[in-house]
Amino acid sequence: MSTIASSLQPPLSGQVAVITGAGRGIGRAIATILSDLGAHAILCGRSRPALEETAAAIEQSGQRISGGSSARNIEKDSRRGAGKVSQKSAEKTPAKTTVIPCDVTDLASVEALAAQVTRTFDRLDILINNAGVGSFNGPLHQLSPDHWDKLLNTNLRGVYYCIRSLAPLMIKTRGGHIINISSLAGKNALPNGAAYAASKWGLNGLTYSMAEELRAYNIRVSVICPGSTHTDFSPHTGMNTERMLQASDVAHVVAMLVTQAPQSFASEVLLRPTQKP
Ligand SMILES: NC(=O)c1ccc[n+]([C@@H]2O[C@H](COP(=O)([O-])OP(=O)(O)OC[C@H]3O[C@@H](n4cnc5c(N)ncnc54)[C@H](OP(=O)(O)O)[C@@H]3O)[C@@H](O)[C@H]2O)c1
Repeated sequence: MSTIASSLQPPLSGQVAVITGAGRGIGRAIATILSDLGAHAILCGRSRPALEETAAAIEQSGQRISGGSSARNIEKDSRRGAGKVSQKSAEKTPAKTTVIPCDVTDLASVEALAAQVTRTFDRLDILINNAGVGSFNGPLHQLSPDHWDKLLNTNLRGVYYCIRSLAPLMIKTRGGHIINISSLAGKNALPNGAAYAASKWGLNGLTYSMAEELRAYNIRVSVICPGSTHTDFSPHTGMNTERMLQASDVAHVVAMLVTQAPQSFASEVLLRPTQKP
C-alpha cells in the first residue's frame, strides 16, 4: 500500500529548492520545472513583483498536479524528520512556492535569505545559482570599473555568498545538489564580453573546486554551460530565435541532474541548440 502511495509522489516531493534569479528567463523556467517535480520552490531575486509573477504562474499550474506542497507542511514534516510532505496536509494548503526577495551581491541580504530558509524549513535540498548579468557592448579596455564590479559581484561573488550562506544547511543534513548556471562563454573566448566570460570561467573553476570540497558531505555540485538562450538577457541580433536554446531547455537539464540516481552525478553539462541559430 505504502509502495503504491509513494510511487504516486512526484520525484522531488518534500524537497526544498532555492532558485536565484527566479523572476524571469531561465530562473523562472527552472523554478517551474522543480515545482512540477514536487519541490517547494523558494524564489529569489531583487524584484518582488517579478517573483510574485513567477509564483502566481507556478501556483496556477500547480492546480493540475496532485500533492502540492506548502512551506508550512514541509516545515512540520521536516521537524518530525519525515522528509516528505504528507498527502493529507498538502491538500489543505497547495502553495508550492515562497517568495524571498534577495540581492545576491549583498551578503546581509543573502544571509537573511538563509536565515529565513533555516527558520521555515530547516532543510535545503537544491540550490540553483542562476542570477546573473551580462555586458557585451565593447572591448575590456573600454569597460568602466562600475560595470566590472557589477558583473563580477553578481556572477561570481553572488554565487560565493549563496554557497557560504546556504551550503551549511546541506552539510547539516549530509546531502543536497548545487547547480551553478554558467555559460559556454565560460569555455570560450567572447570578444566584447571579456568580463562576462571571465566571470563564467571563474564560476566554472569555483564549481569544480567546491564540488570536491562538498563531496564528503554527500552534496553534488554541477555546472551547466548553455549557449545563447532566448531570454531578455542579451540582444540576439541576426539569430533565429526559434532555433536558439529556450529557457525550458536549460530547465530540462536541471531536471535531469536533480533526478539522477544518487550514487553518481553529472558534474558539467555543455548545452547547445540542435541546429545553429
Ligand atoms: N540568456 C542567455 O543567452 C544565457 C546563456 C548562457 C548562460 N546564461 C546565464 O543564465 C542565467 C540566467 O540568465 P537569463 O537569460 O535568464 O537572464 P535574465 O532573463 O536577464 O534573468 C536574470 C535574472 O537574474 C536576476 N538577478 C540579476 N541580478 C541579481 C542580483 N544582484 N540579485 C538577485 N538576482 C539578480 C534577475 O532578477 P532581478 O533583476 O529582479 O534581480 C533575473 O531574474 C545567468 O546567470 C546567465 O549568465 C544566459
